[in-house]
Amino acid sequence: MNQHENRDEETLFGSAPPPREEVRTDLPNAARMYDYYLGGSTNFAADREAAEAGSAAMPHAREYARANRAFLQRAVTFLAGNGIDQFIDLGSGIPTVGNVHEVAGQFNQRARVAYVDHEPVAVAHAQRLLNDLSGVTMTLADIRDPEAVLSAPGVAELLDFSRPVGLLAVAVLPFVPDQDEAREVLATYRGVCAPGSHLVLSHISALSATPQQVAAAEEVMARTPTPVRWRAPHEIEELLEGFSPVDPGLVPLPLWRPDSTVTEDEVNIANAYGAVGRLDG
Ligand SMILES: C[S@@+](CC[C@H](N)C(=O)[O-])C[C@H]1O[C@@H](n2cnc3c(N)ncnc32)[C@H](O)[C@@H]1O
Repeated sequence: MNQHENRDEETLFGSAPPPREEVRTDLPNAARMYDYYLGGSTNFAADREAAEAGSAAMPHAREYARANRAFLQRAVTFLAGNGIDQFIDLGSGIPTVGNVHEVAGQFNQRARVAYVDHEPVAVAHAQRLLNDLSGVTMTLADIRDPEAVLSAPGVAELLDFSRPVGLLAVAVLPFVPDQDEAREVLATYRGVCAPGSHLVLSHISALSATPQQVAAAEEVMARTPTPVRWRAPHEIEELLEGFSPVDPGLVPLPLWRPDSTVTEDEVNIANAYGAVGRLDG
């Protein structure tokens, strides 16, 4: 590890010892690449290099990250405005501006948020930031193991699944490439949710991207420990199974209840779709 990386680790973990045995700073990591695209500083040289390779393969990676983050915030605003006061954020990532608890907290200061991610740097960073907050937890777990997630103290002791929850699967299902597995994982979470719960889903999907660009972007991620899969809109639609999409349904991310006018270019370069679905009784 070079001096720059040592400084990085000091910045990330402060005086707390980093979870060194689990952290591979020499390998690019999706959470830290996404942080880099969003302009954050919780990333290492390997992440930055892979992120730049991702941008070369897929020119609008940064715009995608920003559009995705903005969608997450609009969707949580929608749910919180409709009385949802508890959230489970699957694949929550490295904390950045406009986190779920901050957005939901504008409506209800007692809103509860259980963050879940399998990336140790994201988890350590979040635990440090969230340390003093009540009603907000960060759990290190793999979302593909719903039983482990749902029984983790940070989830089981915080959320009341007999009442509606906001189930957030935002930009995380590309990391569950197998369609049957993705559907089964979501079905397990859906099975513990009370009627009135909502699923927030976003997923990369070609709009302006050519098949060659998609293949090149997948190839960059195949070099990381967490390959991704781009899905066609009909495959994303399948992931909404059991939930009734609220207006406007599954649409390119910028078109989901936008706050302001959206240009055609903004829609196309986002290369992702999003939807919010309600679990009916
Ligand atoms: C592109 S980021 C999205 C972060 C956040 N949800 C957002 O939309 O702003 C994807 C996140 O999912 C996490 N992730 C990927 N696969 C996962 C898994 N199997 N279990 C838990 N987290 C996972 C990554 O570590 C990363 O933090």
